[in-house]
Amino acid sequence: MPVITCIDDLKRLYRRRVPRMFYDYAESGSWTEQTFRENSTDFAQIRLRQRIAVDMTGRSTATEMAGQRVTMPVALAPVGLTGMQNADGEIKAARAAEKFGVPFTLSTMSICSIEDVAAHVEKPFWFQIYTLNDDDFNRRIIDRAKAAGCSALVITVDLQILGQRHRDLKNGLSAPPKLTIPTMLNLATKWSWGLEMLGTRRRFFGNIVGHVEGVSDPASLSAWTAEKFDHALNWDKIRKLMDMWGGKVILKGVMEPEDAERAAALGADAIVVSNHGGRQLDGALSSIRMLPEIAAAVGGKTEIWMDGGIRSGQDVLKAVALGAKGVMIGRAFVYGLGAMGEAGVTKALQVIHKELDTSMALCGETAVTRLGRHNLMIPKGFLDGFA
Ligand SMILES: Cc1cc2nc3c(=O)[nH]c(=O)nc-3n(C[C@H](O)[C@H](O)[C@H](O)COP(=O)(O)O)c2cc1C
Repeated sequence: MPVITCIDDLKRLYRRRVPRMFYDYAESGSWTEQTFRENSTDFAQIRLRQRIAVDMTGRSTATEMAGQRVTMPVALAPVGLTGMQNADGEIKAARAAEKFGVPFTLSTMSICSIEDVAAHVEKPFWFQIYTLNDDDFNRRIIDRAKAAGCSALVITVDLQILGQRHRDLKNGLSAPPKLTIPTMLNLATKWSWGLEMLGTRRRFFGNIVGHVEGVSDPASLSAWTAEKFDHALNWDKIRKLMDMWGGKVILKGVMEPEDAERAAALGADAIVVSNHGGRQLDGALSSIRMLPEIAAAVGGKTEIWMDGGIRSGQDVLKAVALGAKGVMIGRAFVYGLGAMGEAGVTKALQVIHKELDTSMALCGETAVTRLGRHNLMIPKGFLDGFA
């Protein structure tokens, strides 16, 4: 068993163990991937202020996200096809999150269905829905999430149309993979992944296949999704989805203060400053750069979270210090899952937690809730360099 000390170690293992098609699916952004890259590199520009001789006993990284007690201010982001990164991936990630005391969000585009995940965990998880133009499907899936006991609905508002990721097109991404010669040659080097996949029946989009008439294979599914993303989305339709749910709502994918104002006015319990991990509008600024402006505009009215580029506990610290009540992580937990299954997700959470706790202590803070701008050094022009 290799010694894992950081998220990058998990990423290296992940790359070795998972078929190229699914590694590329996660490890890519849209078009030039500028936003995908800057989500991470912008974190590195922010520095921490070291303090000394501060009593660091009795520290706590615990806080609340949308009224839910969490071990640290980190939730697992919705990630489509998680069950292709490792067999039964959504169930494994949900179990790891539950044991660690952080929320898990199940994507609509998951491999394991809502009911299946619910049957394998004890506490409620969150469910993510896309803004589709099919009220009947929306109502049915929302009813299924309610019946499964989901405790919050994450509405992703930045995917009315799909950003192009070149590698997915070149690889012919599908679930399960189409057996072309290059795919078969690559699969031949991924034995443990293949054996585990053969051992599960969960290999299709569990929330959709069997629940939508006429969708039975990858080709009919992609035709269905392309047709269903709501190009005519507006604020009234978002409100309608919120009303259908009637419980806690998190709006994910907000990048402008004006949009954040609208989202807060609708009564969202939290807003996630997010550019979908750089997978949608390439050329958008990184989430960490947009966070302070949005937090300043609406931080008093609702909870502000962020995601995009978080690969360490220090990144979590920086986001919280810049005004996020919590963050979501996508790729960081996927690397762990692909590398080592449930144990790998736990490892990713442990790594991030330890880094957060130690960095907090060295910054002279004993509670994550007391982090603020005073803990950071921010280069001139970082926050107002773009007009
Ligand atoms: C492989 C992959 C699949 C994703 N699928 C979804 C999805 O189904 N629904 C959604 O709202 N966001 C999805 N996202 C975006 C994540 O929820 C999150 O915003 C993003 O991963 C954060 O960036 P990070 O990966 O750098 O942490 C996906 C991201 C990745 C990397």
